[in-house]
Amino acid sequence: MTLYDRIQATASFIQQKTTTKPTVGIILGSGLGGLVDIIEQEAMIPYSEIPNFPVSTVEGHSGKLIFGKIGNTAVILMAGRFHYYEGYSMQEVTFPVRVMKALGVDTVVVSNAAGGTNTTFNIGDLMIIKDHINICPEHPLRGPNEERLGTRFPDMSQAYDHDLIALAKEIAEEQGVSVRTGVYIGLQGPTFETPAEYRMLHTLGGDAVGMSTVAEVIVARHASMRVFAMSVITDIGVSDVPITITHEEVLEAANAAAPKMAGLVEELVRRL
Ligand code: HPA
Repeated sequence: MTLYDRIQATASFIQQKTTTKPTVGIILGSGLGGLVDIIEQEAMIPYSEIPNFPVSTVEGHSGKLIFGKIGNTAVILMAGRFHYYEGYSMQEVTFPVRVMKALGVDTVVVSNAAGGTNTTFNIGDLMIIKDHINICPEHPLRGPNEERLGTRFPDMSQAYDHDLIALAKEIAEEQGVSVRTGVYIGLQGPTFETPAEYRMLHTLGGDAVGMSTVAEVIVARHASMRVFAMSVITDIGVSDVPITITHEEVLEAANAAAPKMAGLVEELVRRL
């Protein structure tokens, strides 16, 4: 089956399982599972039951699609995402984004846990992603282009929607939540970076670094969807002394910041 046919088959399967017609798609990052509570849930499908879906392998990622409402907005939420470092191809990593589009989604909200490479950042900070730098070794659009999915050479000049960024900043101010804005660098992992690499990423213009998001955003833009993305800074890599980082600490810091992010994302989606 071609990619296009697989997308259609998966979308048809999902449409038989739920009457929700989502216009907004939300992808939850590591340790941000608590954000499911912002949804009035109408249906849930484990990834393991969805044809053509890979199965998530990482601790802290439960692996299900949740359908429901935030205010009057119908949403589809991915609790658990697929990472390149797990062994999936970039096409597999981004397959759910394609399915979201086929289901009628026009706006994607992407979240992640990321390491800070900006020396003014603190653990627990929220960062609105205003742009990205892609240094992943594989590109999700490599190969023959399927014109029904998008154009061969997508424009990336405004990958992160300026109106959504402005709205999110407005909401953050109303809620008394301080947010940073910055550039996210996506790389493959699964190692965290060496001190020299964190410094390099900072020099390259990155404020945060992580192992997800970039491929999903590229595919969302290929599919002409609007994107809003946000990181929770779970560790700070740039320092004169090496700082050890564990996945557990990343999850803990993300969990702690999740309520702040949940409040912001909930209100943002309500106002879409
Ligand atoms: N580097 C890469 N990915 C991450 C980090 C990091 O420091 N923290 C959370 N995800």
